[in-house]
Amino acid sequence: MMAMRPFLLALFLFGACVNSSGQSVREKINFNEGWKFHFGNSNDPVKDFNYGIANLFAKTGRAERTAIDNKFDDANWRSLQLPHDWAVELPFANSDNLDVKDHGYKPVGGLFPETSIGWYRKHFSINAVDSGKRFALQFDGIFRNAKVWVNGYYLGTNESGYVGFTRDITDYVDFHHENVITVRVDATQYEGWFYEGAGIYRNTWLLKYNNAHFVEDGVFVHSKVENTQAAVFVESTVKNEGLSGKEFSVLANVLDRNGKYIGQANQEKVVLNAGESRTIKQMVMVPSPKLWSIEQPYLYRLVPVIKSGDEIIDKQTIRFGIRTVEVKANGVFLNGKHVKIKGTNNHQDHAGIGSSLPDYMQYYRIGLLKEMGSNAYRTSHHAPTPELLDACDSLGMLVLDEQRLLNSSPEYMDQFERLIKKDRNHPSVFLWSIGNEEGYAQTNSFGKRIAQTLLARQKELDPTRTSTYAADLANVFKGINEVVPVRGFNYRQFSVADYHKDHPEQPLLGTEMGSTVTTRGIYEKDTINAYVPDQDITAPWWASKAEEWWPLAAENDFWLGGFIWTGFDYRGEPTPYIWPNISSHFGIMDACGFPKNIYYYYQSWWSDKDVIHISPHWNWTGKENQPIKVWVNSNAQQVELFLNGKSLGKKEMPLNKHLEWMVPYQAGTLKAVGYRNGRKIETSRETTETASSLVLSPSKTVLLANGQDAVVVNFTAVDSKGREVAIADNLIQFKLEGDAKMIGVGNGDPSSHEADNFLSGNWQRKLFNGKCQVIIQAGKNAGNVKLTVTSEGLKTNAVSFTVAGSTQNAINP
Ligand code: GAL
Repeated sequence: MMAMRPFLLALFLFGACVNSSGQSVREKINFNEGWKFHFGNSNDPVKDFNYGIANLFAKTGRAERTAIDNKFDDANWRSLQLPHDWAVELPFANSDNLDVKDHGYKPVGGLFPETSIGWYRKHFSINAVDSGKRFALQFDGIFRNAKVWVNGYYLGTNESGYVGFTRDITDYVDFHHENVITVRVDATQYEGWFYEGAGIYRNTWLLKYNNAHFVEDGVFVHSKVENTQAAVFVESTVKNEGLSGKEFSVLANVLDRNGKYIGQANQEKVVLNAGESRTIKQMVMVPSPKLWSIEQPYLYRLVPVIKSGDEIIDKQTIRFGIRTVEVKANGVFLNGKHVKIKGTNNHQDHAGIGSSLPDYMQYYRIGLLKEMGSNAYRTSHHAPTPELLDACDSLGMLVLDEQRLLNSSPEYMDQFERLIKKDRNHPSVFLWSIGNEEGYAQTNSFGKRIAQTLLARQKELDPTRTSTYAADLANVFKGINEVVPVRGFNYRQFSVADYHKDHPEQPLLGTEMGSTVTTRGIYEKDTINAYVPDQDITAPWWASKAEEWWPLAAENDFWLGGFIWTGFDYRGEPTPYIWPNISSHFGIMDACGFPKNIYYYYQSWWSDKDVIHISPHWNWTGKENQPIKVWVNSNAQQVELFLNGKSLGKKEMPLNKHLEWMVPYQAGTLKAVGYRNGRKIETSRETTETASSLVLSPSKTVLLANGQDAVVVNFTAVDSKGREVAIADNLIQFKLEGDAKMIGVGNGDPSSHEADNFLSGNWQRKLFNGKCQVIIQAGKNAGNVKLTVTSEGLKTNAVSFTVAGSTQNAINP
């Protein structure tokens, strides 16, 4: 650092990625805007813009008569902004086909040729000043089988619907005319057995950098903590794509989260011939490091740099955390401290928007899980969105990061390698998963050998972590379980103790646990509407109730902990019903993130908050004097229940359980008073009048005018006294004024066939058991935005937002 001139030092530490002449050395330009979209057709090549008729691959750049041709007129295609999930926009389609059911009854897949191929086009220009640079397109996720062309030149196919990919486009860029990207997305084939969305549903970027550069995901940073200091190891792969050989120097700085310089690695000289690449290993010492933890997720920045002489020619900023993780037979230890895994499994979709989540939604969802006391997230069953991991890094949530399919063929090995390289710098990732319930292979020698191959590759790419595999097997030590370092249990919680006795050295993790099916706010089984009661009483035969697994995990050190199936309801896998049920009931929260009653069970035993919660609601006109089972979830040691001021008895709360009273119904107030460590905590449920207005609860009131930031607005029906009306089902109309747009509505009803979004016309949604939600995305103009809600019989209400002028990323602290 001594040798560096002050000007360079300033640029180095605080500047954008620019060199000493003020030119940028690396840019990552968001490419979500300005896309055109049209359905193709998997059965009819003419309707598929001649794909399959025109001989595209006979000559390079040949694209005429297709939508790949730059001259193709896409004026009548729909204009849209990414991320985009076309599946969520389609109406529901009843079908006897089990895969259609499991994918949420959306007309996507081989049976639906007209709505399973999507074509995307984007026109863009590149300034001739940049003609010596390199360019690449980065797609963070397309579902699925995406073929990409630029200016008619084929860039290749990415099969995976989950692992992102990058394509160098330098040779195809036209600096004097418009350029066109064309993407053909083929969602006719499923990858999973749950709702997967369809289209370019994650962020897309244009990358610009110099001929000598760090390769994609080519900087690996990890650390070792010893006494009062940490050694930060940096492994950077540098490539020279210029036409002649040159000498470069590679250095790396560590900054704290405020950008303050902490330390630098020795500068390494490297001579690279044209086309050559090399991996350089460096080390930076960090004295008295602030460790990343669930409670204090402190993030440092690594700034690796390539220089040619004094000139900076590549520079990146990578957030990382310094922490230690050990996964042992007696627990997970983060920075030497035992952490019981209190995890949830989740798919990627959310109410209203399907799989196309603005980045803000990742923070919103992880925030809700943290609020419940959860400390871990399993990306079941596929590579996560980069911003999900960013949110977990920022908010302090451990991640079990999973490969979609257990397979060691080149295609899947490549997916696995890309998954690890993309995600290994995230401090939140504590464990890899090589697969889930591979019923055809998990106990045979094929499964065992595939697992061994994947595990060996994992160790090479990331020696700092280990792996598990999610097995739906009881006390079975055969095949994958014989070789996987951490044995995962999907359900079969009753067999964990026996397995431990037989294999005391192998760490044991509940990779899928619980799975009570509940419908928010419903208290009677309803086979017509396909609803299940909202208490911990119904679980599928293969699964368990919350109170059957969590006490075992909580009270035995040989359980590392477990992941509930699932944190949020998700589309598809309607269980235990079929149509009209279109989404799962497994969530602790519904698809909007509204808590169900079981949320309070987990919150009582997972968080350190005071929790006391009564269910059901207390509006049972017509059931006077009939006994109603009242549940109280709480972490108080004793709870006393009162109806209209009269005590119904005080009870001791059993650890990791709940309390019940049978109460003959009378309108009025049900009140629970708990005593927690000598303190009184209480809650009540009142019989209400009918709903008279809505309470609007926005997740924030200031949005950034960057065209991407989003806000969630939740609506709760209340009566004239402001009491929540838990049975209201009014139809709500939404109107938005200002530079912002609504992108999705939902209410958590797993049998609702209402539209989630409105490409034209008025936006509306019914309340489901008193609640609904709208998601709004900011435009690019600063100003005010006002959301007005109207409904027959309810007072009109509104909420305003400030959209603040900024082009900064709203949520990437
Ligand atoms: C598991 C599976 C999950 C989900 C769940 C439903 O067997 O791993 O993806 O299907 O069952 O209960």
